[in-house]
Amino acid sequence: MSTAVAPLKLAFVFGTRPEAIKLAPIIVAAQARPAEFDVEVISTGQHREMLDQMLKWFVIDATVDLAVMRPDQTITFITSAVLGGVGAHFERSRPDWVIVHGDTTTTFAAALAAFYQRLPVAHVEAGLRTGDIYSPYPEEMNRLLTTRLTSLHLAPTGAARSNLLAEGVPDDRIVVTGNPGIDALMLTLAKLTPPAGPEPGAARNLLVTMHRRENHGAPMGGICRALLDLLDRYPDLTVTLPLHLSPRVREIVLPLLGEHPRVDLCEPLAYPQFVAAMARATLILSDSGGVQEEAPSLGKPVLVLRDMTERPEAVAAGAAVIVGADRELIVSVAARLLDDRDAYAQMATVINPFGDGTAAQQILAALVDHC
Ligand code: UD1
Ligand code: UDP
Repeated sequence: MSTAVAPLKLAFVFGTRPEAIKLAPIIVAAQARPAEFDVEVISTGQHREMLDQMLKWFVIDATVDLAVMRPDQTITFITSAVLGGVGAHFERSRPDWVIVHGDTTTTFAAALAAFYQRLPVAHVEAGLRTGDIYSPYPEEMNRLLTTRLTSLHLAPTGAARSNLLAEGVPDDRIVVTGNPGIDALMLTLAKLTPPAGPEPGAARNLLVTMHRRENHGAPMGGICRALLDLLDRYPDLTVTLPLHLSPRVREIVLPLLGEHPRVDLCEPLAYPQFVAAMARATLILSDSGGVQEEAPSLGKPVLVLRDMTERPEAVAAGAAVIVGADRELIVSVAARLLDDRDAYAQMATVINPFGDGTAAQQILAALVDHC
């Protein structure tokens, strides 16, 4: 008589670029253990080109693709499309765990769809908070709502665990695992040829990304003007800015920076190319969450283009400085790092507080233990 135990059925749901990057190491690790895990990959398609780039690099095929993305979509539209599409899928498929990541509208709507089907949710990157429901918007509220819908909270750091405990989440439902984004970065660095790093003799370079809804409009204009000030002050400086595909970003950035001879406004880079660009950069200026986590592993100081961060570990460790969209502050902080070797070295030699590249295995172990 066979005593084989059925594999645990894991349904991973994602829709945007960062969710794909951070869930990829867990999906790949689970797929490598087919006797233990039956893996379903559900893409909501909240992003299209930017998501497909990532799935190609990590060689992941979606079992289901809802393809919800519309040009200049609203949060309301994404929520209802994902809730309906993922909900209909869960009516047919009954996974043991629904696994979501982070704070996008896909994250929240998929968790809600799972709850409506009485399916348990495991939340990767649980417990990040700014304490302001409008910053980042709508992500802080997505985090709070997803926490309420979650059975297993996979917190990247001790600080994230403390946030969850303070909201009354039971300790035995929280596991601190590190952030699988660091696993993704390490897997990618190991595969890059030639190895990533600064090019000898190359000009000093600022790598810039921005997309957050609260930076749309005037704040993004202020950031662009700060970049122009820095280009004026440092004739040897270049700027690389992979443009997010959102029309709200392009309508601000293109008129202000599109003609400058030392600004490279490129299309969104595939993840390995972006990792190589981070490794080549002198400084990184970004409103991205993931970039704040990755930069310390590459020894790159980050200027956070936001008024607050849910990743205080990077600031506390000395790898990141919050500058918001304040033109003068951006210029003065960047100038200090470009002018002062010691200040630069201090920020560039920090141990990454977000993980050591083993989060995916820790997350799989937690899913087995808590099932
Ligand atoms: C979304 C998430 C944000 C996350 C970010 C990662 C929400 C509300 N926002 O913001 O939390 O940090 O993704 O990048 O969940 N577009 C394309 N092709 C793509 C991707 C986007 O054309 O591959 C364009 C479309 O016009 C789309 C627009 O960008 O409507 C905005 O995309 P959306 O997902 O709504 O917002 P993001 O700013 O990308
Ligand atoms: N990234 C990328 N190509 C780019 C810009 C960013 O692959 O042109 C990666 C980056 O390394 C990080 C992730 O995308 O892992 C961050 O995504 P984004 O800034 O869109 O979202 P956030 O992290 O703010 O939610």
